[in-house]
Amino acid sequence: MSVQRICVLGLGYIGLPTASLLATKGYSVHGVDVTQRVVDTINQGAIHIVEPDLDVMVRAAVASGNLKAGLTPVEADLFIIAVPTPFKDEHVPDVSYVDSATDAIAPFVKEGDIVILESTSPVGTTERVAERLAAARPELQGKLSIAHCPERVLPGRILRELVDNDRVVGGIDRASTDAAAGFYETFVRGEVLRTTARTAEMCKLVENSFRDVNIAFANELSLICDDLGINVWELISLANRHPRVSILTPGPGVGGHCIAVDPWFVVHTAPTQAKLIRQARAINDGKTDWVIERVLEKANRFREPVVACLGLAYKPDVDDLRESPALRVYEELVERLGVERVLAVEPNLKTSDERPLTELDEALRRADVVVALVSHRPFRHVDPEILKAKVVIDTCGVFR
Ligand SMILES: NC(=O)c1ccc[n+]([C@@H]2O[C@H](COP(=O)([O-])OP(=O)(O)OC[C@H]3O[C@@H](n4cnc5c(N)ncnc54)[C@H](O)[C@@H]3O)[C@@H](O)[C@H]2O)c1
Repeated sequence: MSVQRICVLGLGYIGLPTASLLATKGYSVHGVDVTQRVVDTINQGAIHIVEPDLDVMVRAAVASGNLKAGLTPVEADLFIIAVPTPFKDEHVPDVSYVDSATDAIAPFVKEGDIVILESTSPVGTTERVAERLAAARPELQGKLSIAHCPERVLPGRILRELVDNDRVVGGIDRASTDAAAGFYETFVRGEVLRTTARTAEMCKLVENSFRDVNIAFANELSLICDDLGINVWELISLANRHPRVSILTPGPGVGGHCIAVDPWFVVHTAPTQAKLIRQARAINDGKTDWVIERVLEKANRFREPVVACLGLAYKPDVDDLRESPALRVYEELVERLGVERVLAVEPNLKTSDERPLTELDEALRRADVVVALVSHRPFRHVDPEILKAKVVIDTCGVFR
């Protein structure tokens, strides 16, 4: 491998761990972000996101001289694009960040360079990167290796999973696939699996759509069971004793910036065929609406109701609020009942004027209605005696 200098675009949850890991492996890494604060923080050897052990790795990478950050790209042998790919109104994928990053590297690429798109992307985006580079630098057409390698890391375990997970690498042609796969093989302990760019793009979208569809099944069951007076948690644990059944856990909806977002990329690309995937999105979002209506129905039986929302994050034991259904429940209840009637308990966040938080004990003491939205560790030990005098809506099974 002739790769020595690497330029990483986007220094967030994916780009920064990747850049610092590569720097500690001996590559000379130049990280690029459009936010000055991010660049300054990293150049001081510090971090702007929460991820276990990342502070130590970034400090070491910067101290070694192998990691520098800036606002613009530099010449390199390999470019990694790890910028956001959200959706716009009507759930249309927004690839404008990928376009900007591609345009930013165009003046710096040279013959033989490798360009890897790591952002989760709609099918065809890697080809789009290739077309944009060809338009900007026609003399390099066919002389660059361009590939997609989706990221599958789990926040909280990113540094470990960057190395241990299997990677799917798909190029716009065979030579691109081999060049990019060869690079990952220098630091990945998992298997590096070769395919085409379109298959690699679809693979990531399908993984998250699979999760979303299966969670939708559990959420649909929870509504059916509620109508039939059946305890859904008991039902699922019994059904899962079948050797080939493995039903997931219902909740107040689906959150996070991956599972709640990526299925829409499939729906947008294949609107006629992706019926089940679209329906799963509707079921999971509809579950959040159902929880809100259920809480209001119970709360309105009190003259001056106080509702305690246990958890705001999108999953247990993290502080991440992105696309969180629990946060949506809380905000809608505040809108409908008034902020003084809705208490938020979120042990992973600090209280603020914008979002005042209440301690768990105080919230349990004051509430008429207790809504469990996230199975955070402290909620698992709530004394059942305290709950006896309350209306309890347990959307995540934390008191089961
Ligand atoms: N976070 C995860 O757990 C995870 C997991 C798998 C895949 N992904 C995917 O990885 C991609 C990046 O996600 P993330 O969580 O790291 O996002 P993030 O928001 O944490 O970080 C993205 C960074 O890119 C910067 N940026 C935006 N436009 C830029 C540009 N033109 N040039 C340089 N920098 C730019 C932003 O300022 C930001 O700091 C997304 O496609 C996401 O879906 C994320």
